[in-house]
Order: sequence, then C-alpha cells, then structure tokens
Amino acid sequence: MRSRTDRPFGVNLRADQPDVVKRVDLLIREKVKVASFALAPREDLIKRCKDGGLVVMPSTGARRHVEKVAAWGADAVVVQGGEGGGHTGRVPTSLLLPQARDAAGDIVVLGAGGYFDGRGLVSALAYGADGIAMGTRFLLTADSPVAQAVKEEYLRHGVDDTVLTLQIDGVPQRVVRGRTIDRLERGTAPGRLLRAAGNAVAFQRMSRTPWKEIVREGLDMKRNHGLSWSQVVMAANAPMLYRTALLDGRPDIGVMATGQVVGLIDDLPSCRELIARIVDEAVDVLERFERGGR
Ligand SMILES: Cc1cc2nc3c(=O)[nH]c(=O)nc-3n(C[C@H](O)[C@H](O)[C@H](O)COP(=O)(O)O)c2cc1C
Repeated sequence: MRSRTDRPFGVNLRADQPDVVKRVDLLIREKVKVASFALAPREDLIKRCKDGGLVVMPSTGARRHVEKVAAWGADAVVVQGGEGGGHTGRVPTSLLLPQARDAAGDIVVLGAGGYFDGRGLVSALAYGADGIAMGTRFLLTADSPVAQAVKEEYLRHGVDDTVLTLQIDGVPQRVVRGRTIDRLERGTAPGRLLRAAGNAVAFQRMSRTPWKEIVREGLDMKRNHGLSWSQVVMAANAPMLYRTALLDGRPDIGVMATGQVVGLIDDLPSCRELIARIVDEAVDVLERFERGGR
C-alpha cells in the first residue's frame, strides 16, 4: 500500500488471529492511520491500538458489542445488519442501526449491510449514522480484483440466493447459495472433516504457512469460538475457499461471500463513478425532501 499511495489508509484485521498483537504493533510502527476489525476486539487490544495512535474501528452485529467497544475507547463502529456479506449477525440493518446509534454514545457510527445507492445513504443518516460502509457493492466494481467471470456470476444472483451458514468457520457468514455450501450443509461431520483436510493441505502448499502456525491458529479458534474439529479445519481453509472462487475464478468449487444486496446490483462501475453517483442520488433525495416532494 505504501508503494501505491501517500494518502492515509487503514488495515483490516481479525481480532481472533493468534498473532494479532504482532500485527497491531506493525501497524503502529508503520504509522498506519486506521485499524478496522472484523469481529470485535477485546479491551486490551483496543487500548494497545489507541496508545499507539491508531484510529480503532471494529465491526459489530449486535447492540451489546457496540456498547462494549464504545466503552473500551473505539473511535468508530461499523454496524452490520444481517443482510450484509461475509461475517454477519441476524438482526437486519433497519433494526440494528437505530439500536446501535442509541448505544454508541458520541462515537462515529457507520451503517453497513444492504447499501448500494444514495437512497440507502440518506436512510442511514436518518437513523443517526455518520455514513455507510459497503462490501458487496465495492466488490462489484470495475476496480475490484475479482475475476471478471466471477463478477458476472454474482450479477446473476437475486436477493433470495444467499444463505447464512456456520459451515465455513463456525461463525455465521452470508454467502451465495451454491454447490459447495449445499454440500457442506448436508455433509456428515467425517465427510466435512475429510474435505476440509484436503483443502487445508492445498492451502498450506499455496501459502507456505508453516504447519506449526496453522495448528496453533486452529487450537486458538477452537478455544475462542468453541468449534468442533471439522469446523476448525474448515476455518483454516476458509481463505482457500474464497481465493478459489473469487480470484482463481472457480465459484463452482469455492465460496462466494455476498450480501443480499447482490440482487439489486446490475452493473460494474468504477469506484470513482460509484461514489459520485451515490452522492448525487443522496443530494437529490435531500433536495426533494426540502421541496416537500416524494
Ligand atoms: C466478499 C466479502 C468479503 C469480506 N471480507 C471482509 C473482511 O475480510 N473483513 C471485514 O471486516 N469485513 C469483510 N466483509 C464485510 C464488509 O466489509 C461489509 O461490512 C459488508 O459487506 C457490508 O454488507 P454489504 O455486503 O451488504 O455491503 C466482506 C464482505 C464480502 C461481501
């Protein structure tokens, strides 16, 4: 990133990674501006980030997590409703966001889950959010590194074509319903374990991650999330499943994380075009309100 821009940028971390403290220390040394977290970090980790000068922005899917991270000193919180892509909760954005706003005190709140246009941005602002975060919409842009054929595959899906599954890493994730997920959902525990083990071997070869590290990470996940062994092995090769689908262009054997909003997206603009469009639409809506129109 440093070689590509002199602008400020943030780094996204999993708070449950065993070496997350080392990663945070690297961000502090490199004077990165923002640490965002998928799954909320603990109090001591937030403190470490803050002491090192990082802006801390966890993602949460539940009111009680918003209360906690706000009390622990987070600067901002991404509040993701159940329709959102990737790791997500079960409460829809329309119910979670007002709850989160009330629970967050005066820290910055970003609504996430289901946003793709200016109308959505205005609705989030109406709930008291300071802005929105989008995943699926940015994934489906001309700038995203996802294989073109896979982007086209995403565009074919409707709002009902996604599923919230525990089968990838034991934590609920929203993904496109497809062969791999159906097989995982239906499969028996030993079958899942066998398939997961095969993927883990392939992942180890591709990433050259030492086995010791993979096993340590697995043990930590088992302890932190109370996972079964087949879930631990699945979690270890979740990156492999995403890589295979998104970058290698093989959604038939990998997994495509997505929000339900995929069903409302039908083009692949550049990020620049997309943001300009959303801002224009939001301004139009606000002007319409001012005129008293619908
Ligand atoms: C393919 C995909 C991968 C994602 N990976 C991450 C991730 O690594 N870390 C994270 O914090 N959120 C991740 N998310 C969640 C997004 O950052 C965002 O909060 C979410 O997509 C919002 O919902 P939306 O998809 O309806 O816009 C991912 C989402 C998708 C669709």
